[in-house]
Amino acid sequence: MTIAVLHPGEMGSAVAAALRHDVIWVADGRSETTAERARAANMTPGDPLEADVILSICPPHAARDVARSVGAFDGIYVDANAISPARGAEVRALVPNAAFVDGGIIGPPPTRAGTTRLYLSGERASEVADRFAGTIVDARIVADAGALKMAYAAWTKGSAALLLAAHEAAEAYGVADALDAEWADLGLLTRLEAARVAKSAKGWRWIAEMEEIADTFAAKDLPEGFHRAAAEVYRA
Ligand SMILES: NC(=O)c1ccc[n+]([C@@H]2O[C@H](COP(=O)([O-])OP(=O)(O)OC[C@H]3O[C@@H](n4cnc5c(N)ncnc54)[C@H](OP(=O)(O)O)[C@@H]3O)[C@@H](O)[C@H]2O)c1
Repeated sequence: MTIAVLHPGEMGSAVAAALRHDVIWVADGRSETTAERARAANMTPGDPLEADVILSICPPHAARDVARSVGAFDGIYVDANAISPARGAEVRALVPNAAFVDGGIIGPPPTRAGTTRLYLSGERASEVADRFAGTIVDARIVADAGALKMAYAAWTKGSAALLLAAHEAAEAYGVADALDAEWADLGLLTRLEAARVAKSAKGWRWIAEMEEIADTFAAKDLPEGFHRAAAEVYRA
């Protein structure tokens, strides 16, 4: 069983390191940082079309490009990205010969058991889950892994954006110190600081994720404005 991870970012390389399989990666077009992570995770450069399973783990805006790059693949293709169910269907159409498994990762890049879940859905999801049995990645099968990831991140990253926006409003009106005192009582200052750190490190990637969440809400006639605004916060 050979697994390909496209691409070994922070999450992909950690998932690859957790697997007890040969894991291949593709160097073309990738940065030296990705190459270093691939080496550290003992991954081997190779042809993903020869793998049995491809795990797509990349920024949400790149999910379709990654699928397009392996359009002829006929094994199991897992899209484990933060994209809406509708975008997931577009990705599926780009790998028409593959068995499509939708995925969603919740938790940090895994380094120990108990932190990170890989939710999976689709006809052959259990075959993918089996690959993670006994590893530090907790693979779980659900009805719609992509939708679960969207709903989860709607709160975590959406509420972080709201904290950032509310604090900026207080700063603009000269009442930030008073807000800090109120928020200290609510235990929100630690969350505000975490939101700031996360925004500067990953905000660029969360813009597309917020748009994907807005699309997910809109597809079910739910208000999409929260996360369109959150995308603006991360874009600023
Ligand atoms: N990191 C986390 O804490 C976390 C938690 C839960 C879920 N996830 C999910 O994991 C996925 C990846 O996150 P990450 O943290 O691993 O991101 P990352 O560290 O930024 O890595 C992204 C990987 O994708 C490659 N890439 C970037 N732009 C690309 C493009 N346009 N086309 C093809 N490949 C591209 C990067 O290669 P280069 O080096 O060449 O740019 C890198 O290898 C996301 O969908 C995210 O939702 C991450």
